[in-house]
Amino acid sequence: MSEQLAISSTDKASRYRELLPQIASLVDGEPDLIANLANIVAALRECLPVASWIGFYIRRGDELVLGPFQGKIACVRIAFGRGVCGTAASEQRTVVVPDVDKFPGHIACDAGSKSEIVVPIVRDGGIVAVLDLDSYDYAAFDEVDAQGLAPIAELASKLAW
Ligand code: SME
Repeated sequence: MSEQLAISSTDKASRYRELLPQIASLVDGEPDLIANLANIVAALRECLPVASWIGFYIRRGDELVLGPFQGKIACVRIAFGRGVCGTAASEQRTVVVPDVDKFPGHIACDAGSKSEIVVPIVRDGGIVAVLDLDSYDYAAFDEVDAQGLAPIAELASKLAW
């Protein structure tokens, strides 16, 4: 099956609104977690050209382990509480970082990355994964992204973890 995304809006909030039902339909009826995460990442990448890297880190015990992603080769394991991903996971909150050099403990998988947003995927009160987006632009992500990604994270939390 080949899916074409239909995103016509130019403003970010509307693009997220258009994307959400399309992601829902992409994963609908497909039980395989990895396939669904991979397609969510691909859809996000198409919708958000400002992102240089988009991917999931999946919880394995006290660590986050690299899952489906698009972009350059990335760090494989991140401890809870470390970096932007580990912080979002341990605090169960979305972390927006306009300048990664100003985030203490930021893990630089790609030296070109300038800003980042990490959204926790929470299921039954616990972290199952985080969704991480990086950009080569400073301040590429803001509250609009946090709001737009929240329902996508919610949808992802309902997959077969
Ligand atoms: N920068 C992240 C590490 C993951 S890469 O960006 C893909 C962090 O500080 O947790």
